[in-house]
Amino acid sequence: MVQEFKKVGVVGLGTMGAGIVEVFARAGFSVTGVEIDDGALDRGRGHLEKSLGRALSKQKITEEEHGAILGRLTFTTSREELADADFVVEAVPERIDIKRDVFTDLDRICPPGTILATNTSSLSVTEIAALTNRPDKVVGLHFFNPAPVMKLAEIVGTVLTTPGTIEVASEVAKRIGKTPVVVTDRAGFVANALLVPYINDAVKAYEYKYASREEIDASVTKAAGFPMGPLTLADLVGLDVCLAVMDVLWEEFREPRYVAAPLLRRMVAAGLLGRKSGRGFYDYS
Ligand code: CAA
Repeated sequence: MVQEFKKVGVVGLGTMGAGIVEVFARAGFSVTGVEIDDGALDRGRGHLEKSLGRALSKQKITEEEHGAILGRLTFTTSREELADADFVVEAVPERIDIKRDVFTDLDRICPPGTILATNTSSLSVTEIAALTNRPDKVVGLHFFNPAPVMKLAEIVGTVLTTPGTIEVASEVAKRIGKTPVVVTDRAGFVANALLVPYINDAVKAYEYKYASREEIDASVTKAAGFPMGPLTLADLVGLDVCLAVMDVLWEEFREPRYVAAPLLRRMVAAGLLGRKSGRGFYDYS
């Protein structure tokens, strides 16, 4: 069934969305990327072309493959172009009002059989599913940053998702080279419920001046062999995303270990979001 997909839609072409488009296109799917306006579309396309250019220069793909991948991509500002999409992944900002707008539209535009997947990391998939008339066909398909590199895809089922939908989403994940892990819809799912409180603890260690940011990061990379330290990882993930995950964990479980570090909240308020804003715990300007 998945191999018969003629068109995959990706709505939202930020860091995650652009990476998701790349992953699908490199796996051979025809992908339509949708953004809200021309500026956002150009930024998403630019991100993707840069990433594909890097893959080409590192000889991970040939000139021919590069051309074929680009040939499978379509970009548009019109969601209506997903009227014949077989599978859609939403990767828009983590606000329920924006998700509502997108899912109401997708539910109206896409054929009744189309599975609507969300890449949300901090909202409830159940709440998103309930925005549609096809909650049985709404599933979480949660990627990790950088999407073209990280191998995990969490498949998030809700009380309303049918086993058939989970099965298709898992098959999709395998077809794009990811390892699917089926999880239930709870705050943080599994990976973020483990990872983000760890990042938050590192922020507290920095805030309480246990050590410098470099020393805190080195304490993990050199001790435990992680590819990057927690403060560098926070900058990669986005401090706003980390804060949103901490807040939903707190909201759902009310456990002290889920209280966001005050510094994390202040940095987000100050617009220091990490790599995407040019400055977080480190400077990228
Ligand atoms: N897009 C595509 N490819 C990328 C990339 C990107 N943004 N960033 C790195 N890569 C590729 C590089 O091209 C390189 O590929 P080759 O080895 O084939 O040449 C490979 O990844 C390694 O990259 P680098 O040599 O530049 O750098 P590195 O060795 O330091 O690796 C890293 C970079 C892959 C990001 C690595 O540091 C890492 O795995 N870090 C941990 C990332 C992580 O934990 N992500 C999960 C965050 S949680 C999340 O995302 C969920 C959420 O909802 C919040």
